[in-house]
Amino acid sequence: MKINLANIKKAQKLLNKNECVAIPTETVYGLAGNAYSDKACKKIYKIKKRPKNNPLIVHYLNNQILKKDCSFNNDFLKLYKVFCPGPITFILDLKKNSKISKIVTNKKNTLAVRFPKHRVARNLLKKLDFPLAAPSANPSSKVSAVSSDDVRDDFGNKVKYVLEGGKSSVGLESTIIDIRNKPKILRLGGLEISAIERTLKKKVTISNNPLKVSSPGQFNLHYSPGIPIRLNAKKINKNEAYLSLEKMRQNKTNFYFLSNNGNLREAAKNLYSTLRKIKKDKYKSIAVRKIPNKGLGKTINDRLKRASKF
Ligand code: TXA
Ligand code: MG
Repeated sequence: MKINLANIKKAQKLLNKNECVAIPTETVYGLAGNAYSDKACKKIYKIKKRPKNNPLIVHYLNNQILKKDCSFNNDFLKLYKVFCPGPITFILDLKKNSKISKIVTNKKNTLAVRFPKHRVARNLLKKLDFPLAAPSANPSSKVSAVSSDDVRDDFGNKVKYVLEGGKSSVGLESTIIDIRNKPKILRLGGLEISAIERTLKKKVTISNNPLKVSSPGQFNLHYSPGIPIRLNAKKINKNEAYLSLEKMRQNKTNFYFLSNNGNLREAAKNLYSTLRKIKKDKYKSIAVRKIPNKGLGKTINDRLKRASKF
């Protein structure tokens, strides 16, 4: 995609004035504001209708800039070297003299940090002298946005500006890892756990227990398209859309597929846009055919399961 400098300038100007701007990233679109400004961060919560106790992810250009705000260890550096910029978010200790707004962290002493790979996001970060707090650009508990149209559909003119960046290439939110002690995955995401384990040369635990929530992305009822979802469906009911991983030989109008041949990366990229499309096509519910629970299939199933609690 060609970089449009005028668009980036416009976003920069608004962000400098503590306004919120939707930005493209390779995972999903984010609703961004100056992470050092209470005013900007309060606006993010308001627009998203996000509960105040749910802290924000902060986006940095690189780990040199991060040094001002957070301390990090060897495990962080190993993962940073291999996967950043990319779809991984780290929980780190906040430094005492950090300028990060208390609104971002809900007064916690940890910070969720990510280095987006999307060229438009990086270009914008280069022009700013602050990092960007940016939760996913969707109303709380709803399915995330993977295009500028999705953001406009969800927020209309409540968001001052949507920076164009095409369709998000990963299509699922970042994998969140608490790296401060024993590495622990807090949210499955666009980076596979096996790749993380290979790099760290150790097993990581997955803390997916909804009773002990440390990352509200783990709450049930999340990522919902606004209509019921049935998992591992074998039969299709009346007025129901049928969603499968790969194209079916028989193709009826209510059949939707996430990839041509069962490729999980392609399926991840298409998941949220397909859920949105089914809703727009006015189906009353979605029956999902079993999707293999391996690699990114694990993240896809995780999201569908949470969305099915509607
Ligand atoms: O891919 C992504 O991560 C996207 C793009 C825009 O970067 N962002 C995203 O943000 O998914 P959000 O806010 O929808 O999800 C971030 C999750 C939330 O569930 C939040 O609770 C958790 O990160 N989180 C934020 N700060 C945390 C902290 N200090 N400790 C534990 N979890 C934290
Ligand atoms: Mg979100």
